[in-house]
Parts: sequence; C-alpha cells; structure tokens
Amino acid sequence: MLFKITVLGEGGVGKTALTVQFTMASFVETYDPTIEDCYRKQWTVDDQPCLLEVLDTAGQEEYTALRDQWIRDGEGFLVVYSVCSRDTFERVEQIVKRVRRVKEEAATMGGAYGSYPYSPQSPQSPLGVRAHGPIPIVIIGNKRDMQHLRDVQPEEGANLARRLGCEFYETSAKHGYNVENAFKTAVRGIKVA
Ligand code: GTP
Repeated sequence: MLFKITVLGEGGVGKTALTVQFTMASFVETYDPTIEDCYRKQWTVDDQPCLLEVLDTAGQEEYTALRDQWIRDGEGFLVVYSVCSRDTFERVEQIVKRVRRVKEEAATMGGAYGSYPYSPQSPQSPLGVRAHGPIPIVIIGNKRDMQHLRDVQPEEGANLARRLGCEFYETSAKHGYNVENAFKTAVRGIKVA
C-alpha cells in the first residue's frame, strides 16, 4: 500500500534533515535549501508492509506558489517548525489552515479533477478521493536537541496542536528522536482517513 506524505514548514526548520533521517538514517549537517525532493521508503506499520513516498518541500518564500500543488499531492502532512525559532512556530497555524482549505477544495470538486494521485483511475475509491475523515496532520517541533537555543516551549506546541486538532511531536532530526513516531502517526492517520 502506498502512502504519500508531504513535509511542510518554513525554510531551515529541518524538513530535509527529518526526511533524510527517516528514509536513510543519516543526519544532513549542511544547509542546502530544497526546492522539491521525493524520497521513498519501504516500511512496516502495525505489521502491514507499506511504501512511503515523502515529498520534501521548499520553505523559502519564493516557492510558496508551488505549495498548493504539494498539498494536493499529499495524503498526510508533517508541518514542521524549529523549537529555536518563534517565527517558524507562528507560521504553523497558517500552513495547517492552508492544507485544510486546499484539501476541502479538492474534495468538493470531486477530487477526480485534481492532480495525481486523485485521478479518476485511482484505485483508492470510485471518486478518486481517499480522505473522508480528518486530514492527517502532524505538527512537529524540530531541533529539540538544541535546548540552549530553545525559543518555543513544548507545551506551546502541544497546545497549538490540540487547538488545531492535530497530532504533535518534538523531534531531533540530528539524534533521530521521535522521527519514526512522527511518520508512523501520519501513516496511521492516512489509514483511518
Ligand atoms: P528548506 O529546504 O530551506 O526549506 O530547509 P529545511 O527545512 O529542509 O531545513 P534543513 O533540513 O536543510 O536544515 C537546516 C539546517 O538545520 C541544517 O544545517 C541542518 O543540519 C540543521 N538541522 C535540521 N534539523 C536539526 C536538528 O534536529 N538538530 C540540529 N541540531 N540541527 C538540525
């Protein structure tokens, strides 16, 4: 079974580092701004083999025009901020709302006319729309290992997630902390959606 996860968030928060840690178990130390990269990983969740397609997106402002397409292409979402940057935390709500708006638009259009994977030929459902339940969104406060530079407290992340009806993890892409848990939660969310 194929699961499509899109990773969103401001520039430099660690989207690539999380994706690479998850798919390749290594940490990317250098910062090379992404435009768009797709990674695949064969995985097992709750004893079920699955293929994950992870879309690592650009956080830089100049690429926001591409964001709606990345949202249409995803079934589950990681919305990432850095616990060392309040600015990136403050962008999370707007991104979550954007995801919901774009997905609702796609659903009201029958989804069938949306982009891949919501094509009429999609085996996922006769309408080509898989999501009927809540859209699986996991909010992530990354760079948890950088405690000395912390600017956003864990409770703030948890409260925001509760208010927006999302799951929440603090992660460290550097140490691999909670990275698998975050992806696993997104996959489980897609399964029940
Ligand atoms: P854009 O491609 O511009 O959107 O950035 P991004 O969100 O993909 O950020 P990226 O993964 O490239 O990480 C930016 C910088 O933060 C890099 O130097 C990473 O090594 C560093 N970084 C990412 N995650 C962590 C983390 O959990 N801990 C620490 N200490 N550094 C991290």
